[in-house]
Amino acid sequence: MEYTTLGSTGTTVSQLCLGTMNLGYQSEGWKLGEEESREILERAIDLGINFIDTANVYRGGASESIVGDVIAEHDRDSLVVATKVYGSMDDDNPNAQGLSRKAIEGELANSLERLGLETIDLYQIHRWDDETPIEETLRTLDDAVRRNQVRYLGASSMWAYQFADALHTSDRLGLERFVTMQNHYNPVYREEEREMLPLCDAEGIGVIPWSPLARGYLTRPHDEFDTTARGSEEADERGDRHAVYRGGGGREINERVAELAADRGVSMAQLTIAWHLHNDHVTAPIVGVSSVEQLEEAAEAVDVSLSESDLEYLAEPYEPVPIVGHD
Ligand SMILES: NC(=O)c1ccc[n+]([C@@H]2O[C@H](COP(=O)([O-])OP(=O)(O)OC[C@H]3O[C@@H](n4cnc5c(N)ncnc54)[C@H](OP(=O)(O)O)[C@@H]3O)[C@@H](O)[C@H]2O)c1
Repeated sequence: MEYTTLGSTGTTVSQLCLGTMNLGYQSEGWKLGEEESREILERAIDLGINFIDTANVYRGGASESIVGDVIAEHDRDSLVVATKVYGSMDDDNPNAQGLSRKAIEGELANSLERLGLETIDLYQIHRWDDETPIEETLRTLDDAVRRNQVRYLGASSMWAYQFADALHTSDRLGLERFVTMQNHYNPVYREEEREMLPLCDAEGIGVIPWSPLARGYLTRPHDEFDTTARGSEEADERGDRHAVYRGGGGREINERVAELAADRGVSMAQLTIAWHLHNDHVTAPIVGVSSVEQLEEAAEAVDVSLSESDLEYLAEPYEPVPIVGHD
């Protein structure tokens, strides 16, 4: 594995972050059950992946719990564990969601318990909360850092003006600032290049893209997208997202990924991960996998090299697409 630093912090993370949105105890559609989830987490640690991303809402807390179970059997201090807060954890409790002091303090305690940790390395706000003043959120997060419940703060998909507001507010009030942005970014969804990524570069923010493989769209030819359990569910239920990937030059980009991958003798998934690793904006893509084999393949992508002309070839067909992933 290759390593990098997490934004402008001194903490070292693997160039691949393992996404755990699909891990849990019971298999359900494309989401995995306990045995496969454990195997993936164990193998990721074996491969030197020290950076793991989860969220309180993933599988209703089961993703955090299984991450907690597996890391308890390892040297937890050698891992960098990231989780998130914002989404609803209890439909009957309006304070089990959002970014108020009450919501964050309750949800942070629950995440620490499920993860079996005293300190979460990277605590991220999953979205912007229109109902809570950003000062309240930032003071609460700053208190959590001072209590040693959290080491670093991160944010996820929002508008660049909101993120700029948050960074400015923490500087103005002398509070801990966000060190990472977890946003939607891949070769067929590059809208973040307009405002968010230049802002992150200027502010020394680490960028850890989600859905870096376009949810599997860039791991096989576009007309085979719905041949897996996940692909068919994505094509049916999240048709909006899939349509966005197919639009804006996405089909041609998919074909060019296939062509360059065949030329290099690597898989499309590896070629797409290499695109992220050659991208100056990106710190570490958060890769989701459906099997140990996919994970092993992803780990080998750190050795795939791309030239400037390869990158231009992949970029050329792209056209603007509607914003997806802020909701
Ligand atoms: N902050 C946020 O709002 C947010 C939103 C979404 C996700 N996330 C984070 O990002 C992580 C990744 O997101 P994601 O799963 O949507 O995106 P992704 O990494 O773009 O796509 C993962 C899918 O790509 C396919 N794949 C992966 N490796 C492959 C390989 N080697 N060969 C062939 N196919 C491969 C698999 O689908 P098939 O089974 O179809 O092959 C897999 O489920 C999540 O686990 C989560 O941690 C965050």
